[in-house]
Amino acid sequence: MNSIEQQIQALRDEIAQHNYAYYVLDDPQISDPQYDALYHQLVELEKANPQYITPDSPTQRVGDQPLAGFKSVKHAVPMFSLDNAFSQDDLGNFHKRLHERLPSLSEIEYAAEPKMDGLAINLRYEHGKLIQATTRGDGTTGEDVTHNVRTIQSIPLCLIGRGWPEVLEVRGEVFMSKQTFEQLNQKQLEKGDKAFANPRNAAAGTLRQLDPKISAQRHLSFYLYGWGEISSDWPLPQKYSEVIQQLRTWGLPTNPDAEVVVGDQGMQRYYDKLQAKRVDLPYEIDGIVYKLNAIDHYHELGFTAKAPRWAIARKFPAEEVWTELLDIEIQVGRTGALTPVARLQPVAVGGVTVSNATLHNQDEIIRKDVRIGDTVIVRRAGDVIPEVVGPVLSKRTEHVRCFAMPSHCPVCHSEVIKEHDKAVYRCSGGLFCPAQRKRALQHFVSRKALDIQGLGDKLIEQLIDVGWVKHPDDLFKLTVERLSQLERMAEKSAQNVVDAIQNAKETTLARFIYCLGIPEVGEVTAKNLANHFQSFEKLMQAHAEQLIAVKDVGEIVAENIETFFKQAHNLEVIEGLLQAGIHWPVPQVAAVSADSPFTGKVVVLTGSLQQGSRTQAKQKLEALGATVTGSVSAKTDFVIAGEKAGSKLTKAQALGVTVLTEQDWLTMMGENNG
Ligand code: IVH
Repeated sequence: MNSIEQQIQALRDEIAQHNYAYYVLDDPQISDPQYDALYHQLVELEKANPQYITPDSPTQRVGDQPLAGFKSVKHAVPMFSLDNAFSQDDLGNFHKRLHERLPSLSEIEYAAEPKMDGLAINLRYEHGKLIQATTRGDGTTGEDVTHNVRTIQSIPLCLIGRGWPEVLEVRGEVFMSKQTFEQLNQKQLEKGDKAFANPRNAAAGTLRQLDPKISAQRHLSFYLYGWGEISSDWPLPQKYSEVIQQLRTWGLPTNPDAEVVVGDQGMQRYYDKLQAKRVDLPYEIDGIVYKLNAIDHYHELGFTAKAPRWAIARKFPAEEVWTELLDIEIQVGRTGALTPVARLQPVAVGGVTVSNATLHNQDEIIRKDVRIGDTVIVRRAGDVIPEVVGPVLSKRTEHVRCFAMPSHCPVCHSEVIKEHDKAVYRCSGGLFCPAQRKRALQHFVSRKALDIQGLGDKLIEQLIDVGWVKHPDDLFKLTVERLSQLERMAEKSAQNVVDAIQNAKETTLARFIYCLGIPEVGEVTAKNLANHFQSFEKLMQAHAEQLIAVKDVGEIVAENIETFFKQAHNLEVIEGLLQAGIHWPVPQVAAVSADSPFTGKVVVLTGSLQQGSRTQAKQKLEALGATVTGSVSAKTDFVIAGEKAGSKLTKAQALGVTVLTEQDWLTMMGENNG
């Protein structure tokens, strides 16, 4: 070897060491730019001396000649599949069988590994060099995908260390990390290409690329989990876990989440642990693979038609399944919003049976292009609510129907209105619509509202349907005699319901505001409103301008509140509720003196005050009936400017709003003794 050749070889070795540290040990020794510099140095040297370029140089990972097709390769040792266990029982039976067949083992060790959701691959090394990579194919014959596998950074082109056998075939899974998958799909869509359905499809599609440049850009990963032909110059260790450990020292990446466990309890514990970890793993898994750790017993156990008897795959419940979309129905919400709901042929997904899933709104249905009669993909990952991902286009027939939002409410037949600039369609029936009434009542009695127990959805439905209750205030007119007339309602339960309703009359201002069901006024906003206004009358009279001053209330919510209290039918219901005797403790505030110059005024505080904090000042003003807001507008009556007042003061001056100093203010309050 001349010195150039030696230099090239030294660089290659160094780069291979860094690849190993980075991809296998997860412990990089140099920074990315340093690595890039080494790599660049090699590229330059090889460019100047092309006679020394060899196929195992790291620079050759990006092949340049697209192939015409894939060559078929017969496996030296067949590539088997795995039997599946779908339950704890199945797994228990597997363990029992091994126990019976292997009486010499008092306890059984298993190598437990995540079941990666990718593709099985066979890597053939001869004299330490990667010479061929093949897919599993039908188990006997696979496809030669060496050109693409060479682009996988974590797969060593040359084994490192020493002592490897002349022929070494390792097997493992090629997969795409969740992150790479997301990025790839985003790029696909930007280019106007189709997105891949899942990381497995993306990995398969990538390995079958004819142009290795494309595979190189897609960043596949690899973890090993087995072997094929191994020449006899390396005596196999006795345990599976020891083989894997040895292969790792030769530079092959292994799964860091693999463990050795003991007995069926150990298997179960590992399963629970991985299932809990599943969503946070950087790659997709669809179960756990357990392998007998004692290799010396493999031979006596042997194989079934397609799988070894010494291993099993315990599958997780599927997170994505196919089922038929029977119909799309409309649900009418409390505020009249129409929500399309998918009625599905019941199907087990993620461990539960699913027969409905929300489709959110019309835009979503169009975007996903789902049609009634389609076979659809339903997904439920972890504790997430089931979702219709999209149609299986290959299964679409001419019998499918497109969905259209109805022009009239399916419940009360009032006109349906689409809100300008929003995806929401609403029934215009308001509280005339029985569906809205039911939802309004459900909300009214719910735990965070008046918390009336015993008034379940079924009973509410009955009460609305027989017409005894139209609005929440009608609840308070219900008698035991009347309720007992309902089907399946004994006098005792009727009494309980009436008692619960009567007890609910004693409440808090915040709960009362919340129970009214003002659009977008949730529990927290209701509390903020109660704290701010301390009086229901004041809230009812407040203008949007004053409402915005309340914590977390924006323009839209303020407008919703103002509009709500302008509607005659809402005022009637409120009147009815107050007449029925709903009450709450009146907050203890200083009596409002009607002749204070601040009563009913809109005030802004700015700058730093000397006499007490701004919060205290705010409380004093509010006790006098003023509304304290955060921003200056033409509607502001006073700006009280402390020291170092800034833009608010400037704005007040520009708008001609009366500006008071802290002293002025205290004088007007009659507090200035100085
Ligand atoms: S062992 C003879 N281990 O699952 C043993 N397979 O359903 C063969 N897979 O074709 C495979 N992770 O593509 C094994 N840790 C793992 C695996 C794994 C994923 C795949 C592999 C195999 C399929 C069998």
